[in-house]
Amino acid sequence: MNISFQPLPVFTEELIVYTEVGMFIFFLIAFLLGSVFYFWWLGKEKGAPFVSLSPAVVERVMKIGKIKKRDIFYDLGSGDGRLVIAAAMKGAKAYGVEKDFLRVIYSRLWIRLLRLEKSAKIIHEDLFKVNLKKATVVHLFLLQSTNDKIEAKLKKELEKGTRVVSTAFEFKRLKLDEIDPRGPIYGPIYLYRI
Ligand SMILES: C[S@@+](CC[C@H](N)C(=O)[O-])C[C@H]1O[C@@H](n2cnc3c(N)ncnc32)[C@H](O)[C@@H]1O
Repeated sequence: MNISFQPLPVFTEELIVYTEVGMFIFFLIAFLLGSVFYFWWLGKEKGAPFVSLSPAVVERVMKIGKIKKRDIFYDLGSGDGRLVIAAAMKGAKAYGVEKDFLRVIYSRLWIRLLRLEKSAKIIHEDLFKVNLKKATVVHLFLLQSTNDKIEAKLKKELEKGTRVVSTAFEFKRLKLDEIDPRGPIYGPIYLYRI
């Protein structure tokens, strides 16, 4: 019996080029759609855009907030985690609350690299949903409209004597204790007490 094999279809150079170009276009479109979705999702309930503080301002926040050992520090909208890390380095138990998962991953990575996992944690959550009862110091660098919205929650959940440090934006009904005019370009650093 004579069995003859048919040759497999040959991938011509032209076909390979078309496949590669097609895959490139597919991944480009997927990346663009993903980016559009990501920024739409990020802006959906914007409490504030991401802007980070300079190391000098971070140090002033630590100073005006009198961050020390045994403090329980919360940074609401923790961005890249620099304040959480600074507070943990001062010996506080530090929590960052951040809704942008890329910044959550980034800040957790830094915390791991600096071996601060025991004292610094990033909570991937909307800052309006996190219970702040155990905080002794809370920091915020958000927007005036977000401060106005969160003021009642701070008054309700925080213990008497808790320090609230707000960078650049005020609280209208909290008791003002101190102001450091050397904040970022957007405004000074305010210290309030509950
Ligand atoms: C101006 S940045 C401040 C970053 C950091 N605290 C600092 O001072 O360097 C504000 C951050 O708040 C986050 N954010 C805005 N609205 C939020 C919300 N509802 N819940 C959690 N994080 C929020 C943003 O993603 C952004 O990273």
